[in-house]
Amino acid sequence: MAEGIIVIGAGGFGRETLDVIEAINAGTRDAAWDVIGVVDDAPAEIQVERLRDREIRLLGGIDANRELFAGTHYVIGIGSPAVRTRIAEKVEAWGARPATLAHPAAVVGTRVVFAEGSVVCGGAQISTNVRLGRHSHINPGAIIGHDSILEDFVSVNPGAIVSGEVTVRGGTLIGAGAIVLQGLAVGTGATVGAGACVTRDVGPGTVVVGIPARVLEKHS
Ligand SMILES: CC(C)(COP(=O)(O)OP(=O)(O)OC[C@H]1O[C@@H](n2cnc3c(N)ncnc32)[C@H](O)[C@@H]1OP(=O)(O)O)[C@@H](O)C(=O)NCCC(=O)NCCS
Repeated sequence: MAEGIIVIGAGGFGRETLDVIEAINAGTRDAAWDVIGVVDDAPAEIQVERLRDREIRLLGGIDANRELFAGTHYVIGIGSPAVRTRIAEKVEAWGARPATLAHPAAVVGTRVVFAEGSVVCGGAQISTNVRLGRHSHINPGAIIGHDSILEDFVSVNPGAIVSGEVTVRGGTLIGAGAIVLQGLAVGTGATVGAGACVTRDVGPGTVVVGIPARVLEKHS
């Protein structure tokens, strides 16, 4: 029987997460997930229209749905690692259970561990012996190299490449099309700008951009 699931976030990644759920359902004889609806504290009107167009129910804000979360699966379809961290803490305290979702068109190697709440989009490629932490997001076309460890609440945006044996600490965002070279460590809560090439370890909380990646002064 299909399990109920609430998607948090009506924005772009929320609706991409709905695509992942629909693709999983299409690939199973009995649907795996029954989408209860989407919750969002402040959806833009355009996002409301887009959900209506897909005939997905918008249930209102997170707090207003507290009772619905108890014992129900949920997934956070919001790109910001910091926002995901706050929301997960809140709804898990209410008894909600994170779903783990991998699109059937993602290529996943052997000995890969997905922690709860992770979302892997279609076209992502994950090599062998990779660990994805809780609520990590691997966007379309992102590549995660062999033996890499991504801690909790990491986002790897579209087309980014995390090479082999890399450690990405919790709450980090790897921007679209960025490359992290092999064996490096990216510190907790760091941001790697879109299109950057990371050639040295990145310190916690820093924002790096460019080729080779350097700390963005406005954030230093
Ligand atoms: C790096 C990043 C976090 C900086 O954001 P920000 O703090 O808002 O920075 P700003 O837009 O104010 O730009 C500050 C300066 O950095 C430069 N800059 C911003 N992003 C850059 C990037 N990715 N590479 C090179 N330079 C960049 C800007 O041109 C600007 O330079 P200037 O001061 O000479 O004009 C952001 O631009 C980024 O790349 N985020 C990832 C986005 C992404 O992956 N999007 C896909 C979503 S699916």
